[in-house]
Amino acid sequence: MELIDGKKVSDTVKQEITQKVTEIINNGGKRPHLAAILVGNDGGSITYVNHKVKACEQIGFTSTLQKYEDTVSEEELLAKIAEFNANNDIDGFIVQLPLPKHINEQKIIEAIDPTKDVDGFHPVNVGKMVIGLPCFKSATPAGIIKLLSFYNIETSGKKCVVIGRSNIVGKPMSVLLSQKGYPGDCTVTVCHSRTQNLAEECAQADIVIAALGSPEFVTKDMVKNGAVVIDVGTTRVPSDKTKSGWKLKGDVKFDEVSPKCSYITPVPGGVGPMTIVSLLQNTLDAAANK
Ligand code: GUN
Repeated sequence: MELIDGKKVSDTVKQEITQKVTEIINNGGKRPHLAAILVGNDGGSITYVNHKVKACEQIGFTSTLQKYEDTVSEEELLAKIAEFNANNDIDGFIVQLPLPKHINEQKIIEAIDPTKDVDGFHPVNVGKMVIGLPCFKSATPAGIIKLLSFYNIETSGKKCVVIGRSNIVGKPMSVLLSQKGYPGDCTVTVCHSRTQNLAEECAQADIVIAALGSPEFVTKDMVKNGAVVIDVGTTRVPSDKTKSGWKLKGDVKFDEVSPKCSYITPVPGGVGPMTIVSLLQNTLDAAANK
């Protein structure tokens, strides 16, 4: 079993991006600029956005963080999005999800200029991704693709089961793995809450992508010997061993599943760090596309 070290891969990619930023600046160019909109006080969202801002600082991007109380109106958010769309210094921006119930998330996503939609959530980018055109790809699936290629993991003709059908991870992941070329050319099955015999489907897979958000859902009887297991889960569970009082739990029961795997991602330190570098890469591309 080989552990897929997302931290190591993300550090390598960050160094490459840092180098490119230095070249841009040395050639008299503008520093890439990522902006983020954060609404409310969800602990997970605050942590993720802070990590994104910190990563920008590390690699030499400019960053802007716009925070709102969870009482903010949809109109106010739409006005800020219009402002960011029009701001020539901002190359790309994200609205951290989920948003409070009174805000129409889809309306917010569709208000973002697709050329600045570095999350790849706008229907224009999703549509382009589906038909294989250049576009911003959703950061978590793009990060997983990068991990598979970094470790030269064979994907052609492999049976892949994606558990979860979210717009952010499951759906785009299934598209990217089934597209022509490497990494891709997989035969993909998408499993979800209505799937019958999910454990049996999963047990036939060469590659399992667990992205349902249910801690330790994938157990050893669901994974065949030699499988590649990618764990996207990041649920916060109470812990008396950490200062914060919680720790992250993946969707895979790591201790019992890992001995059966050829490759597996840990939580934390697997997919998580890759999501951030994909976002940075998209922002660098957005700046270059101008
Ligand atoms: N919420 C969970 N993952 C993401 C992400 O990749 N981007 C945004 N904007 N919100 C998220």
